Amino acid sequence: AGVRRRDFINIAAISAAGVGGVAVIVPLVSQMSASKDVLAESSTEVDVSALEEGQAIKAVFRKQPLFVRKLTPQEIAQANGVSLSALRDPETLAERTLEGHTNMLVTMGVCTHLGCVPLGAGEGENRGEYGGYFCPCHGSHYDTAGRIRKGPAPTNLVVPEYTFPSDTLIRIG
Ligand code: FES
Repeated sequence: AGVRRRDFINIAAISAAGVGGVAVIVPLVSQMSASKDVLAESSTEVDVSALEEGQAIKAVFRKQPLFVRKLTPQEIAQANGVSLSALRDPETLAERTLEGHTNMLVTMGVCTHLGCVPLGAGEGENRGEYGGYFCPCHGSHYDTAGRIRKGPAPTNLVVPEYTFPSDTLIRIG
């Protein structure tokens, strides 16, 4: 019951912050930036200054999980080495990232099959056969660009609208 109550309070806090709640949200993010694993649930800005290559951050955007991953040169090469004809939902890494920031992969952490949260953003989690993300619910494998490669998911992990207000900050939405 304790867990449910906390969820309720978090949701209530998000609703209270609302769309105009940026001034409230920003202090929450910096307060919690020590945790790479879970940033403030109501955040729309993610501080990536501490993110190292090969690491990912889990955040929450509009009440859904969001992954930000800093790709290694090898992961970028892996993504770029795939021919589009081999893809179920053909998109290049460049199309799924912002110019000048192709090493920063921002996706929703929601499997496009039935909405489970894929593994691979947390330290030591199974990243699946293509080194990106793995959804354990029914075995969907995503590659290092978050594209579906194997399993039942029909489409790539969704890339939300985002910008880089600075080199170390991502604003989602
Ligand atoms: Fe991810 Fe079914 S929800 S594979």
